[in-house]
Parts: sequence; C-alpha cells; structure tokens
Amino acid sequence: MKRVAILGSTGSIGRAALEIASAGRGDIEIVGLSAGGNIDELAKQLQLFPRAAFTLGQDDDMTRMASRHPSLASRSRGTGRKGIEALIVETGPDLVVNALVGIAGLGPTVTALEAGCAVALANKETLVSGGRIVMEIVRDRPDMIIPVDSEHFSLSRCLCGNRADTIELVLTASGGPFFNRDRRELEKVTVEEALNHPTWRMGRKVTIDSANLLNKGMEVIEAHWLFGFGLDSIKVVIHPQSIVHSLVRMRDGSFLAHLGPADMKLPLMSSMYHPEIREFPWENLRIEDIGRLDFIPLDEGKFPAFGLAMAAARAGGTAPAVLNAADEEAVSAFLSGRIGFLEITDWIEEALGAHECRDPRCVEDVMDADRRTREFLRARHG
Ligand SMILES: NC(=O)c1ccc[n+]([C@@H]2O[C@H](COP(=O)([O-])OP(=O)(O)OC[C@H]3O[C@@H](n4cnc5c(N)ncnc54)[C@H](OP(=O)(O)O)[C@@H]3O)[C@@H](O)[C@H]2O)c1
Repeated sequence: MKRVAILGSTGSIGRAALEIASAGRGDIEIVGLSAGGNIDELAKQLQLFPRAAFTLGQDDDMTRMASRHPSLASRSRGTGRKGIEALIVETGPDLVVNALVGIAGLGPTVTALEAGCAVALANKETLVSGGRIVMEIVRDRPDMIIPVDSEHFSLSRCLCGNRADTIELVLTASGGPFFNRDRRELEKVTVEEALNHPTWRMGRKVTIDSANLLNKGMEVIEAHWLFGFGLDSIKVVIHPQSIVHSLVRMRDGSFLAHLGPADMKLPLMSSMYHPEIREFPWENLRIEDIGRLDFIPLDEGKFPAFGLAMAAARAGGTAPAVLNAADEEAVSAFLSGRIGFLEITDWIEEALGAHECRDPRCVEDVMDADRRTREFLRARHG
C-alpha cells in the first residue's frame, strides 16, 4: 500500500491522479488532498477518500467550507503553505503528487522533500523558479523527484541505461493552437481560441503558456535541472501529432524516441506506481493508427516567449522566477480580458528588463523576487 497526498487535487492533473487511485487495486491510499478554492469539488473528493486530511488556499475558503460542509471540519489541516506543511508532516505520505499550478508549488515541493517524501512533480514552476535550491536537496537522491510532465517522463524512459551516450535531449511541442497563424493575426486572438489546445486538455494557465510556447521554454529549464544537461544540449522540435513526447540523440548519431497517447494519465500513473510499470487501463496508443509523424523546426521569431525563457535561463539566479511571476500576472490579465495575447510576452520582457538578477539561496529569496515582480507589473499596469 502506497500512501499518497495530492496537492492541487481539484485541478486537471489532480483529478486525473484521483482517477488513477480509484482505478487501482486498492494499493494506493489517499491520505491528503489540497485544493485552492473549489470547495465543492474537494468535498466530493473527501467523501470518496474518507481517510484523507485536507487543506485549502486561503482562510476565506476554509470559512466557506466550514459553513457548507461542517462534517468535514475535523479533517482540515489549515490553509496556504503552512496548511500544506502540516498536511505533509502529519500524514507522512510515501509520495506527494504536486499538481499545484504556479509558484504556489515551490514551497510544498521543498517541504515534501525535506520530510523525506518522494515527489511526483507536475508543477513545473518548482524547477523553473527554484531549480538550484530543489536539486541541492535531492543531490544524493535524485530519484526522490519523479517527473510527471510528459516530455520529462519520456526523457527519463529514453535515458534509462543510455545516459552516458546521450549527447542531446529533444523535447517535442505540438505548436499549440496558433502554430499555423501569422504573427500579426495573434494580436486579436480571443481567450477561447487560446484555450482551445489541439491535442491536450489541461488547466487554463498551462494551456495559455502552451499557446505562446513559453511552456516549452519552461520545460527546457525543467529538463536542464532534472537531467543535468546544459541548455545548449536541449533542443525543441515542433511535432503536431503529440505522439512522440521526447527523444534523445546518441553519440553515434541515432535517436531514441518515446511514443505514447496524449493522455497525462500515462506519465502520472507511472509516477504514482514508480518504479513498477503497470498496464495502462485507458485507451492505449495503437501503432497501426498513427499514420504520419511530422517534425518541424521551431520558429522562434513567431514565438518570442520561448526565447525570453531561454534568456532568463541563461541569466540564471532569480531571472527564471521573474519570468514565471510575470507570466502568471500576464496570463491572469489575459484570461480576465484586460490585455491581448501578445501583451503577455510584452509584460514578461518588461519585467525581465527591469530586474536586477540575484542569487537565490532559499525559497524565501525566490518568493521575494516573485513578489517584487508582481508589484512592479501592478504598479505599471494597474
Ligand atoms: N494539465 C496538464 O495536462 C499538465 C501537463 C503537464 C504539466 N502540467 C503542470 O501541472 C501543474 C498543474 O496543472 P493543471 O493543468 O492541473 O492546473 P489546474 O487545472 O489549474 O489545477 C491547479 C490546482 O492547483 C490549485 N491551486 C491553484 N492555486 C493554488 C494556491 N495558491 N494554493 C493552493 N492550491 C492552489 C487549484 O485549486 P482550485 O481549483 O481548488 O482553486 C487546482 O487544484 C502546472 O504546473 C502545469 O504546468 C499540467
């Protein structure tokens, strides 16, 4: 029996993780659930998993929970980062699935690792913003972090036994909903169009990040920290079918590719049962049905957000945390109709241009850079 806590249980990845736990043979026990503000969905989950303690995002959410679902109050461990810390320390899971979105995921990853729990890491902002700090904690136990992002899961499979002979990592990108659009057309795209990803169904923030390819830049940073390859040894190629999730190029010039369905339950299930490899009980990829596989060079001129992510990664220090904070602010402004799609990149560029890079030594230093970036953008744009 593996004891598992799921952070971000009400989101796209969190719900999929609970589906996997329900479909298992009773060998996963859910001991903790953490949500932001979706109290009704969390209440349903708590009925299904009666041994789970829970936390919520803010005190207001807890007040609503207490008045709507008073019978669940005794299972609360509090709110915010402190609540998640209490949840992890008190329930002592074997595995924490970090499916939180945004910088809110960094502190809980560190708490879980310091408490000796393995982390199935979907929250890419953890490594983008705090990669050096997090990897220092697992320096002697890199297997404590199990990648959930499909590209990194695929890389871990391709690298297995081939690490020494791999000279390049290749991440694939679907190209998102605007791959075939002219850059000028992107000025007027709507929120609905940007959320209409051609191959993946995901939460809103990562879907917008995928539409301007910032997400792919973040994934390069994530791969850099997870696998220890230099940024110049990690390439990106557009692959519209989203069937090959990553490749590695070997010293002898050959490639190893990892293929799978565009279904996050596959990497998620593998991370939850790691190191065991289980049969996938949902729709499997049928190799006969694939047809063609295209690989097209990435046009960085059309998607400058990718280049900004690479520039932040090269600058290092707090720059990637600034990149992420500016993106979180800008995506939220876009989703609420306050700015256009192309302004997301403008905001990120502005924040990076104004930032004085520092060397973060702890989570608080990263959070400080995050806070300053948000204050800077709010002061300029309201
Ligand atoms: N979805 C995918 O297919 C996919 C693929 C690869 C990687 N990822 C990565 O996985 C992470 C999660 O993505 P997602 O698509 O599942 O996001 P999502 O659907 O937006 O879910 C986010 C979860 O985080 C919770 N949350 C948000 N802010 C919070 C806060 N301040 N405190 C506590 N909880 C908070 C939300 O709670 P409420 O809803 O209750 O407010 C929700 O449970 C992201 O880092 C994303 O980049 C996702």
